[in-house]
This record gives sequence, structure tokens and C-alpha cells, in this order.
Amino acid sequence: MIDGYGRDINYLRISVTDLCNLKCTYCMPENGIDKKEHREILNLETIEKVAESAVKLGITKIRLTGGEPLVRRGILDLVRNISALKEHGLKELGLTTNGLLLKNYAEDLKKAGLTRVNISIDSMDPDKYRQITRCGKVDDVLEGIRAAKEAKLFPLKINIVLIGGFNDDEIEDFVNLTRDEDIEVRFIELMPLGEASEWDTEHFLANDEILKRVPTLISMPSKGHGSVARLYKLPNSKGKVGLISPLSSHFCHYCNRIRLTPDGKLKPCLHSNVEIDIKDYAENEFDKFLMDGIKAKPMRHCIQSNDYEPVIRNMHEIGG
Ligand code: 5AD
Ligand code: SF4
Repeated sequence: MIDGYGRDINYLRISVTDLCNLKCTYCMPENGIDKKEHREILNLETIEKVAESAVKLGITKIRLTGGEPLVRRGILDLVRNISALKEHGLKELGLTTNGLLLKNYAEDLKKAGLTRVNISIDSMDPDKYRQITRCGKVDDVLEGIRAAKEAKLFPLKINIVLIGGFNDDEIEDFVNLTRDEDIEVRFIELMPLGEASEWDTEHFLANDEILKRVPTLISMPSKGHGSVARLYKLPNSKGKVGLISPLSSHFCHYCNRIRLTPDGKLKPCLHSNVEIDIKDYAENEFDKFLMDGIKAKPMRHCIQSNDYEPVIRNMHEIGG
């Protein structure tokens, strides 16, 4: 599906729940969130129907996100059923997780047809990890990463939100993870959304900081259309380093994605409050629902402009 600016939209991100077993400071309010009523959240059949329409319309890549997707009941069935769309043109089914539950799920996810996982970890230091997530144990994530490797959920990507004054002292440690293992360590710039819009100016650090701290990183050719990370590697390393810089060098001109929220809103752009509500469409109109979302995609975000209105939704209701 081509949008109004000639971009081929082939990637759908589905946030399957706004609930999470962590409360990262930049993502969740301190007192947690009210659990939405059951009827407000899309049921799994509806999610599957939207995914089916999307694949028929030319979506080749789907990613399940949250909140934390592994806390949604029935997640394995959902993966199995969406994975069956590979017969109709789906090429890749990924999942973004905080990794805490992966040790129990990695093997079954692989068997259910999941292609790969991205695992978020903002610090490898147990105390700092607990501080940023307000409750998590970093060892559980590290075990989850091991389980993902054993289950061969490749290529494995590790996501780190770069937070000035918090984890910039770990840049080298994270980069060093790529020396002996074929993983992609990706630094993501802190985006001013929901909770994070309150404190991002104080903590925002442009991704160029990584190149300053690790000048030995060598630039690699980009993977082309739709790839949002600029890629680098250390000399002779097995893995790669990805820099995702939505702020300091926005990639809107090759944005290839749309997002579905747990409560059935299609978001044409992560950084806009425009949403299209599935409730306005009958079950046999999901094609139209998706096409209307794609038509509404703006040319680019305007975070840096004066009339920018911060996005109200928190990231746990969008999924990154
Ligand atoms: N800015 C940048 N990244 C964010 N994430 C969550 N909130 C933000 C934000 N405000 C990250 C998560 C996860 C991915 C889905 O998005 O840490 O790695
Ligand atoms: Fe949970 Fe991810 Fe938000 Fe952290 S960033 S609270 S892991 S949804």
C-alpha cells in the first residue's frame, strides 16, 4: 500500500496489551495504570482479522509489542495464528519484549512461528535496572536473552533507550556485547511521548554521543528501505551497533509502518495524536480501516517545531 507521499507501507506494529510487568520511568506513571475494562481491549480474533486484512493489502512484516506482549493471555495462540499468514505473504513476525518472561516462552514462541525478538534492557547494572524499571531484576532479562539465543530467535536485537546521566556511562559495555556475538545492539533516542515528554529535555542525549564515546565504530551500508537504524560495527566484531535517531536525524521519509493500539486505534504516526478508531468500522471493513490509516499518514513528525503538540498516550499503549 502506497501512502500519500509515495512510501510503501509494509510494516504493522500491533500493541497487544497496555499492561506490563515493569514500570519504566519514561513509559509508565509511578502509580501504575488503571486496568482497562475487558471490552475496551481488542480480542484476539479481532487482532487476527486486522492482521489478515493487512497482509492481504501488502503488509509483509508484523511486530507484536505492548506494554509487555508476553503478559497477554493467549499470546502463543496469537503468534501461531498470525504466523499462519506466512502462506499469504507475511515474511516476518517479530516481538518486542522486556525479556523478563522469555525464559519460559522463547522455545514455544519459536515453535509457534515467531521469527525473532527485540529485547529491551536500559542498564546491565542490577541497581540501575531496578531504578529505571522501578521493580525489575536484570538477571531475568539476561536469562531471557540466553533463552532467545537457545531458541534461535535470530537476528537478536537488544534495545537500549539512551538516557543522559543514567546509562551513557554504559555505552561502551553495551557496544562490547557485539564483539563476540552476532547480535545487534541498538541505541534509541529518548522520544518526548506521554510520561517522557515531562523529562526528556533534561535527559535527552543525541545518538552521536555513541560515536564520540566509541570512535572505533565503522559505518556500515544501511539495510535500505524501511530500516530506521544507522548501522555500525567494531573492527572484527561479530555483531552490529544500530543507532535509532528519530529526533537528531528523523527517518520519516522512509517510514514504512502503521501501529494498532490495544484499544483498537490505528496510529498513522507515532508522534501525532491522530488516531482512527476501529469502532467506526464493521468487521468486513478492516481493509478500509487500514487504508484510512495509511491515507492519514503525515509527511513527517514536527517534534522540533513550535506548534508541536506532545503525544498524550504513553509508550505502553503504543509499543514503540
Ligand atoms: N523514547 C524512546 N524509546 C522508548 N521506548 C519506550 N518509551 C520510549 C521513549 N519515550 C522503548 C522501549 C522499548 C521500545 C519498544 O521503545 O524501551 O525498547
Ligand atoms: Fe514496560 Fe516497555 Fe514500558 Fe518498560 S518501556 S514499562 S518494559 S512497556
